Amino acid sequence: MGRQPQLIFLGAPGSGKGTQASYLVKNFGYKHVSTGDLLRAEIGKGSSLGMRVKGIIDAGHLVDDMTVLELLKANCDTSKGHFIFDGFPRTLNQAKLLDEHLLRGCTTQTVYFKIDLEVLVQRITNRRVAPKSGMIYNLLSHPPKRPGVCDVSGEPLVHRKDDTEAVIRNRIDVFKSTIDEMVEFYKQKQVLKVIDANTDESIIRENLLSALALNGVNNDLPY
Ligand code: AP5
Ligand code: MG
Repeated sequence: MGRQPQLIFLGAPGSGKGTQASYLVKNFGYKHVSTGDLLRAEIGKGSSLGMRVKGIIDAGHLVDDMTVLELLKANCDTSKGHFIFDGFPRTLNQAKLLDEHLLRGCTTQTVYFKIDLEVLVQRITNRRVAPKSGMIYNLLSHPPKRPGVCDVSGEPLVHRKDDTEAVIRNRIDVFKSTIDEMVEFYKQKQVLKVIDANTDESIIRENLLSALALNGVNNDLPY
């Protein structure tokens, strides 16, 4: 698949993985695969997998590795495109599974969106999402033009069930307990880029593009 690498996005809940992925999808032909989105879609469909994982996600815990891996395998074929893996891996074991099952023989690049954890609660409690269009809004930093409605699809915006303060704190604790081992893993493989995610979206985007040596930026786009 050419020279473009498969991308792995690491970062705390609310660090902007989905927001930045959406820009690369629109402008560089990447396909976005977010395990959080896939799991929420299963819950939305009421599938048996969805019923099984709902309580775990609503509480901010991790779903077991094999369930998430199987879902991921069913939803991405790295021989047919360049993907952004958002939210997978979340543990060292998942990083190894990703290499073994989906990234064998692929060029890869890992981006860690590093952020001060104190800003996350405010960011996430103000997030609103449009599940069909995939647009991500923020009531403070990026509100929709019409309150409660997606600019692109016109669908009603959703406040994720796990975006409450108590659950966010739990998700942040889970993140803190797993990030170091993954960072070390990708450092050893020499495929890790660290981006400061504390700043404005546009600055993060520029730093991301330069870290990935991507050209042809369309600066007119809001995202
Ligand atoms: P998932 O959906 O992956 O959630 P997450 O990792 O907690 O990350 P988020 O989606 O909350 O944040 P993001 O980094 O995408 O930020 P965003 O761009 O939206 O996972 C949910 C759950 O599913 C997990 O808790 C777990 O239960 C389960 N799960 C998923 N994957 C799993 C796995 N591999 N194994 C086991 N379980 C798994 O931005 C956030 C907000 O900030 C938005 O409002 C946005 O507009 C705003 N914003 C973005 N950038 C900026 C900026 N620079 N300045 C100001 N605001 C900004
Ligand atoms: Mg996300």
